Amino acid sequence: MLIDTYGRAATDLRVSLTDRCNLRCTYCMPEEGLQWLAKPDLLTDDEIVRLVRIAVTALGVTEVRFTGGEPLLRPGLVSIVERCAALLPRPRLSLTTNGIGLERTAHALAAAGLDRVNVSLDTLRPDVFHTLTRRKRHQDVLDGLAAARAAGLTPVKVNAVLMPGLNADEAPDLLAWAVGNDYELRFIEQMPLDAQHGWKRDGMITAEDILASLRTRFRLTPEGGDERGSAPAERWLVDGGPARVGVIASVTRPFCAACDRTRLTADGQIRTCLFAREESDLRGVLRSGAPDEEIADFWRRATWGKKAGSGLDDPAFLQPRRPMSAIGG
Ligand code: 5AD
Ligand code: SF4
Repeated sequence: MLIDTYGRAATDLRVSLTDRCNLRCTYCMPEEGLQWLAKPDLLTDDEIVRLVRIAVTALGVTEVRFTGGEPLLRPGLVSIVERCAALLPRPRLSLTTNGIGLERTAHALAAAGLDRVNVSLDTLRPDVFHTLTRRKRHQDVLDGLAAARAAGLTPVKVNAVLMPGLNADEAPDLLAWAVGNDYELRFIEQMPLDAQHGWKRDGMITAEDILASLRTRFRLTPEGGDERGSAPAERWLVDGGPARVGVIASVTRPFCAACDRTRLTADGQIRTCLFAREESDLRGVLRSGAPDEEIADFWRRATWGKKAGSGLDDPAFLQPRRPMSAIGG
C-alpha cells in the first residue's frame, strides 16, 4: 500500500497523459500557452501501463484517473485505457477532460473500458466561454458531454470554476442546466495553480458564496449527513434529490486529512499533493532498468514523505513550480 506518516492510504492515482491543451483557461494558462514537455521526457504508453500495473497489483491503487493538460490530445489514449482495463484487479477508470473531441471518442473510450468522465465547463454562455478559455469551442464541449452520456460514461460529472466578473453569477443557471441534462455538477474553488500566478485569495469565489447563490433558487440538503469521507466534494441533494451538486472547497475547507491521492505527471514524476513543491523521479528509476519491486518501493518511500496539508494557509506558502496543466486535476 501507499501509506504516509499520517496514516493515509493513497488508493486514487491521477495520471497526467500530456501537459498540452487546446484551451487557454485564464485560471490555468497564459494566452500564449506554455513551454511544453519534450517528447523524450514523456512516459511512453508502455511505461504508463507498466506503472499503473504496479500501482494496482502491488500498491493498493483502486481508482485511476487520466488527466492532462487535455488527455484527449494523447494519441494512445484509447489503447492505454484498454490495457489498464485488462489489469487484475481491474481498477475503476475515469477521465478528466475539457470535452473537446469527446464527441468523436466517447464510444471508443467506453468500449475500451473507461467507466466515467469529468468534463470541465464553466459557463453556458458562448461569449463568456470564449473570454474564459480564449477559444470558440463552447458547442464542442456541449456535444462532447452529450456523447459521453450517450456512450454510458455515467454519471457524467461537470467541473466548474467560478471567476469574479466573468461567470460568478452563473451558479444557479449551471445547476438548472446540469439537473435537466442528467449531469452531476461540481463547483471547484479556484486554486493558486495558474502558470501566471494571478490567483488572489480576496478575489476568489468561495464555497460559501457558491452555496448562497445556489440557495436563491434551490433547496440544498447535505447528502449522507455531514460526514465527508475521503471524497473532496461536499455533496448536496438538490430540492430533495435524486439530483446532486458538489462543492470542492480546496481553499476554504481543505480536505487534506482525508486525502487518498497520488499523482504521476506526464514526465513520470510522483507528486503526493497538487501543491507539493517536491517531486520524486519515478521515470529515472524506471529507465534505469529497475524491476517492479524496486519501482514499487520507490513509490512507497515517496508517499511516506507526504506532508500533512497543502500549506495554503501558511503565510510562507509558495505556489508549486508546475502549473495545473502539467500536474493534472
Ligand atoms: N483552480 C481550480 N480548478 C482548476 N482547474 C484548472 N485550473 C484550476 C485552478 N487554478 C480545473 C479545471 C478542470 C480540473 C482538472 O481542474 O477546470 O476541471
Ligand atoms: Fe486546458 Fe484544463 Fe488548463 Fe483549461 S484548465 S487550459 S482545459 S488544462
